[in-house]
Amino acid sequence: MGILQQRQDGQDRQEAARVWEAAEEFIRLFHRENKDAGDPGARLAAVRAELDGTGSYRHTPQELVHGARVAWRNSNRCIGRLYWNSLRVRDRRGLTDADAIADECFAHLREATNGGRVRPTITVFAPDTPARPGPLIWSEQLVRYAGYGDHHALTVGDARNAPLTEALLALGWSGGPGTPFDLLPLVVQGVDDKPRWFDTPRDAVLEVPVEHPDGDAGGDGWADWGLRWHAVPAISNMCLEIGGVRYPAAPFNGWYMGTEIGARNLADTDRYNLLPAVARRLGLDTSTDRSLWKDRALVELNRAVLHSFDRAGVTIADHHTESRRFLDHLEREERKGREVGAEWAWIVPPLSGSATPVFHRTYEDRPSTPAYAHLPGARERAQGRGLV
Ligand code: ARG
Repeated sequence: MGILQQRQDGQDRQEAARVWEAAEEFIRLFHRENKDAGDPGARLAAVRAELDGTGSYRHTPQELVHGARVAWRNSNRCIGRLYWNSLRVRDRRGLTDADAIADECFAHLREATNGGRVRPTITVFAPDTPARPGPLIWSEQLVRYAGYGDHHALTVGDARNAPLTEALLALGWSGGPGTPFDLLPLVVQGVDDKPRWFDTPRDAVLEVPVEHPDGDAGGDGWADWGLRWHAVPAISNMCLEIGGVRYPAAPFNGWYMGTEIGARNLADTDRYNLLPAVARRLGLDTSTDRSLWKDRALVELNRAVLHSFDRAGVTIADHHTESRRFLDHLEREERKGREVGAEWAWIVPPLSGSATPVFHRTYEDRPSTPAYAHLPGARERAQGRGLV
């Protein structure tokens, strides 16, 4: 046997050992938390046999549902985990082609949007197997606004998405109309490895125009300003890992918390950088930091976001309520004898942190699986393999 073959066999054995260890832990967890499933013994033996035969194993539909939900429960950066057990799981593991995956992503958006009553939802596409890697979605979220230009201050649209916008143009997309809120097509790389882009159907994306609750008393001309944001945050570039199996394409969504939009997306200097414009509309003195014009503009922008989603009948949480729910979640989990990991810097809202109860304590940032993990960027992986 050649040295390369030996090395390959060694790697395969290591990989099989990694999968088995994680599989065993997950199957035991599944049976512990689902008493109806009975004793794990028979299932463990079946998984072992399948692993020995194929180098991988397939989750039952029930295991997939529970695994995706527990991955949410284990997301240490997420404040919204109280409802982890109600995640809707769309099992599309049979899909490997870019076209079919894009169609199902758009169907996901429609179902999750649900006319404004947003439903936490995940769609799971084909896993990585020893025979071939699973599909990948390049887009960070299913809905993204274009960013044209690569200098933050000069970019039209969302500067965060300038690299994706550029990649799309390189793939042959001819660009949008050039507004600050052009919808980017979705980029999907099927198992044939070719990245392809798909125009996002208008009817799959609900958007909310942003207006101030006090009308012009809340500052001039909010209504004609044209600010908007999309209703559903659907992360599409994280890998769902359950019991050693990786699902690299598994877009999932919850509902928004207002500060994500009002204190970050529209406010960050490297995103829409709108605080100076809001302050001007409010007639604030921007010549000195000590007028607290940024702070006052932040509050009014966040009021506008919450008000606008409410008026449009679109689910959105405020940071005070969501903070209390998170503490309820911690209590509920502790009663079940489970420890909850969390990252303080992600849990504490970016506005009025100390006015919320999640600020005044510490958390253990311990990782657990199942989990949603960041893949090295799909585009970078493709570039590394010389595909684009
Ligand atoms: N912060 C991201 C955004 O503003 C979304 C992250 C997930 N958020 C959520 N509420 N599930 O688009």
